[in-house]
Amino acid sequence: MSTSIDVFAKAREHDRLEQLKAARELDLVPYFRVLEGPTLPVVEMEGRRRIMLGSNNYLGLTGDERVHQGARQALERYGTGLTGSRFLNGTTDLHLELESELSDWFGTEGALVFTTGHQANLGALGTILGPGDTVVVDSGDHASILDGCILSRAKLRPFRHNRIDRLEHTLERAAADGGGILVVVDGVFSMEGDVAPLPEITEIAHRYGARLMVDEAHALGVLGARGAGASELFGVEDQVDLRMATFSKSLASCGGVIAGPADVIEYLRVSARPFMFTASAVPAALGAALAAVRICRSPEGRELFEKVLANARYLHRGLDALGFQVVEPTRLADGTEVVTPVVPVVVKDDWKAAFLWKKLYDLGVYVNVALHPAVPPAGALLRTSVMATHDSAVLDQALEIFAEAKRAFESEHGPLPAAS
Ligand SMILES: Cc1ncc(COP(=O)(O)O)c(C=O)c1O
Repeated sequence: MSTSIDVFAKAREHDRLEQLKAARELDLVPYFRVLEGPTLPVVEMEGRRRIMLGSNNYLGLTGDERVHQGARQALERYGTGLTGSRFLNGTTDLHLELESELSDWFGTEGALVFTTGHQANLGALGTILGPGDTVVVDSGDHASILDGCILSRAKLRPFRHNRIDRLEHTLERAAADGGGILVVVDGVFSMEGDVAPLPEITEIAHRYGARLMVDEAHALGVLGARGAGASELFGVEDQVDLRMATFSKSLASCGGVIAGPADVIEYLRVSARPFMFTASAVPAALGAALAAVRICRSPEGRELFEKVLANARYLHRGLDALGFQVVEPTRLADGTEVVTPVVPVVVKDDWKAAFLWKKLYDLGVYVNVALHPAVPPAGALLRTSVMATHDSAVLDQALEIFAEAKRAFESEHGPLPAAS
């Protein structure tokens, strides 16, 4: 007997098909736009100069000669690829140096380098957790965290984004599940750019006997005096059990890392399938990441962390003054504001976000468009982000373009959500 169901049918029938077709006809698709040069504060994209406000190159190190040199030397020494898993023929001394630098930076006993950050989350969560455990996640956590949880088959208990009362309630339920518990949060949330209140989270997690993992993807090389992330900023590094980060943001490369206790790292090294059953990163990516880590850990690092946050403040103030609704930086209980390089403009409606994006793009500014499921339904954002290497002339030019795009958009489509 044969089936009448074609597994390819979903490709022809999925929810977004009509929307995508209409957006294509109007040249409104903000995705897969083609870069024609390096990711710098100003880029060449589809035949013209555009100000890049849509990358995670927070320190601007993709353009740094020392990082290029690190990549070049690695390429010359090890060739174009390692053509095998780290488990077999794919471990080099660059991996070992990088792991040693990273564990030192995080202040952990060990660190394990993965080929991507996504695989680091899959590998850690899919291995540490099992079907008898419960994993408690913030609803704003990155997709790779969710994917790792699904891989593990642990019981998944999400709580409402950054709601400590909901976390506590969820942990109460998790405690009754009967297995081990891991709480996983982003240190800086990738779309809204807000931070997790780690002092409260660590206290509650430990009160319930749970372990805590923090994804520092958007916080490493940005927050804390050493740039070691949100855990450092909040002074809770010794209370966070596992730290994750990627090389694809401040470290100007590609790759991922899990840092934590030596026995856990060793267990991941010999058991994590997304670590063992994939090829090791290309040497140039490792060489670049290692050079970037060294810059971050030198006295220059601190200047770069301060610069990127000053640029974020500048852009935030500028957009706010133009009347855009900008997601506010997190305000801590003591009144301090935690600024991050992510400065999102709230648009809410998906189509309006696409129209505004296109106006900006045509006028010469590239930003990211975040739609559901990257954000809650009807919560469309234009996610702008800055680099330490944006200068104020370029940011001013971007703000002028935002003002012009807003005027043109509102005259055609009506008002955008207003600054509060
Ligand atoms: C919070 C967070 N975690 C993990 C990842 C995955 O990292 P990578 O891009 O290195 O796979 C990302 C990347 O977008 C991220 O934003």
